[in-house]
Amino acid sequence: MTRKLIAGNWKMNGSLDTNATLVGEMLAGVGTPACDVALCVPAPYLAQVQGLLAGSSAIELGAQDVSQHENGAFTGDVSATMLRDFGVRYVIVGHSERRQHQAENDVHVAIKVKRALAAGITPIVCVGETLREHEEGMTEFIVKRQLSAVIHLNGHCISEVVVAYEPVWAIGTGKTATPEQAQAVHAVLRAQIKAATDNADRVRILYGGSMNAANAASLLAQPDIDGGLIGGASLKAPDFLKIVAAAD
Ligand code: PGA
Repeated sequence: MTRKLIAGNWKMNGSLDTNATLVGEMLAGVGTPACDVALCVPAPYLAQVQGLLAGSSAIELGAQDVSQHENGAFTGDVSATMLRDFGVRYVIVGHSERRQHQAENDVHVAIKVKRALAAGITPIVCVGETLREHEEGMTEFIVKRQLSAVIHLNGHCISEVVVAYEPVWAIGTGKTATPEQAQAVHAVLRAQIKAATDNADRVRILYGGSMNAANAASLLAQPDIDGGLIGGASLKAPDFLKIVAAAD
C-alpha cells in the first residue's frame, strides 16, 4: 500500500510573519509522520517556505498552480521549471476555484499536468462536481469527464499523478461528503485509472472539502481514500497535525 498524503492548501492566505509562525508550529509538532505531508503555498512565499522547511524531511513544499506554457510572453504566469527551482515537489492543478474564477477547462488542466510531470513535479489533479451537478445526479459523469481529459493527454503517465476528489459543494462550506459518498466516487476514479495503467493502485486519490480534525479518521479509513487536500484546517497547526496523525 502506498503512503497516504496529507497536503495543505493555504489558498490566498498568509504573510511573511504568519507563515513563519505556522510552519514553525507544524515542524515542532509533526514528528516522524506515517504519511507524506506537503504544504501548497502562494507563489510569492515559495522561497520563504522552502527556507523554513530546509532540513526537515517530514514536510514537503507544494505550489497551487502552474502555467500551461513552458516559458515566454505570459505575464503573471509561473512555469513548472520555475517551481522546480524552488524545490517544489507537488503542484495543485485544476482546483475548482481556478476552474470557476480563472475559466480553466479540462484541456488547460491536462496540459498543466503534462508541464508539471515534465519538470519532475507531482501534480495534484482536482476533480469534483458543483452542488447543482450533485443534485442532478451527475457526479460520476463530471468527475470522469474531468479525469479523462488528463488521461487522454498524459496516457500511462497517469500513474505519476495524485488525484483529489473535491466536491465543490463541500469546499469551505463545512459540509463534508460522508465517508461512503466519498468512497463511492473514489472507487469510480480508481476504476477509470485502472483502465489506463497497470499501476492504478499506487495512484493516491485524496479527498478534499471541509476535511478537519474531527472527520478525517473516518474518511481516511475508506479503502480508496489515500489522503486529504486540506484548505481551512491547514491554516491552524493543531488541526492540520491532527489530520496528519489520523493518516497512518
Ligand atoms: P476546505 O478546502 O478544506 O477549506 O474545504 C479544500 C480545498 O479547497 O482544497
